[in-house]
Amino acid sequence: MDQQHVSPETLAAQGLGEADPVSGGLAPVINLSTNYEQQPDGSYREGRVYTRADNPTSEHAEQLLAALEGGCACALFGSGMAAATAVFQSLLPGDHVLVSRVLYWGVRKWLAEFALTWGLDVEFTDPGDLAAVAAAIRPGRTRLLWVETPANPMWEITDLAAVCDLAHAAGVRVAVDNTVATPVLTRPFEFGADLVVHSATKYLNGHGDVLAGAVLTARRDPFWERIRSWRRNAGAMPGPFEAWLLQRGMRTLFLRVHRASQTAHQIATHFRGHPALTAVLYPGLPDHPGHEIAARQMSGGFGGMLSIRVAGGAGPARDVLAAVRVFKRATSLGGVESLIEHRRTSEGPSSPVPDDLLRLSVGIEAPGDLIADLEAALDKGAPR
Ligand SMILES: Cc1ncc(COP(=O)(O)O)c(C=O)c1O
Repeated sequence: MDQQHVSPETLAAQGLGEADPVSGGLAPVINLSTNYEQQPDGSYREGRVYTRADNPTSEHAEQLLAALEGGCACALFGSGMAAATAVFQSLLPGDHVLVSRVLYWGVRKWLAEFALTWGLDVEFTDPGDLAAVAAAIRPGRTRLLWVETPANPMWEITDLAAVCDLAHAAGVRVAVDNTVATPVLTRPFEFGADLVVHSATKYLNGHGDVLAGAVLTARRDPFWERIRSWRRNAGAMPGPFEAWLLQRGMRTLFLRVHRASQTAHQIATHFRGHPALTAVLYPGLPDHPGHEIAARQMSGGFGGMLSIRVAGGAGPARDVLAAVRVFKRATSLGGVESLIEHRRTSEGPSSPVPDDLLRLSVGIEAPGDLIADLEAALDKGAPR
């Protein structure tokens, strides 16, 4: 297939559109081999030596994801955390990094527990406040700005073009965790991002049965080579079966993300102003603080994630959680089934998340079933 002349949606549906060169099969094969035969002259036929560095099944998923994001190259990792930490660990001790204050708690926890001992100088900032970001940049020392948009679990939106301009003017690289928006709704490279990171465990795979991550780059530079080298040397590759499942999941990415976004929007609109709730947090709602930027930056929807704040605090929130019958009580996000969780409990005692907040990951079920389920749970659980 001529990849230049078809849309990312078509590339995803056809898995890049190349049949297997040996069998002609339209589904790619899984290459499980850990090692590759050396030729009598010492060379390797395809240049691959050992699977911790290179694997054709991973490469196929990487090429597909790079095409969807519009990036120049992609490296898969064994988890989203392995991908995120590879970026930080490719920096040097003493480097100053700016990280958005609202972000996936696992990254924040890792930074707090390990980045300091690793020698990184981590400073949390609010990427919505451009003056604060500008003031926090230390010329010659700040090497990375890390943002997540929409950001867990309040779904705050960062203006990617604005922060990239600001950071680049000071020579700072920008990494965007695009797990929640996915390339279906936002392609951060188009706004100037240097690196894009994913928990592929979420929407990219989409079926709750793979743990994987990815880092993509706008250009192959020495920093990118350090990330790839970190993956090889630290052994952070996913297994071939995970990579194969991931490419299969990505074939339906557009359908799933569009459907989840539409339903999440419907749910947010339906429950906005509900007497049992004090807030519905969803970037698609006109009163969400990030709505205007999201409307500019996201195309085709505002994502499948939203949060609700239950009137009366933690007790009624837990009662609502206990009362749902269609939503599944579980952590994680981005799968075909809808999930609900008391986010603060998942994050633990140091969590800054309000105690009355329930996080919803909307799946692809019938929207009416989800709305009726939440309506009934709110009737039972929350005080009026
Ligand atoms: C936005 C975001 N980034 C990164 C991660 C970490 O990914 P993983 O669980 O695949 O390690 C998660 C996991 O929930 C996430 O939600």
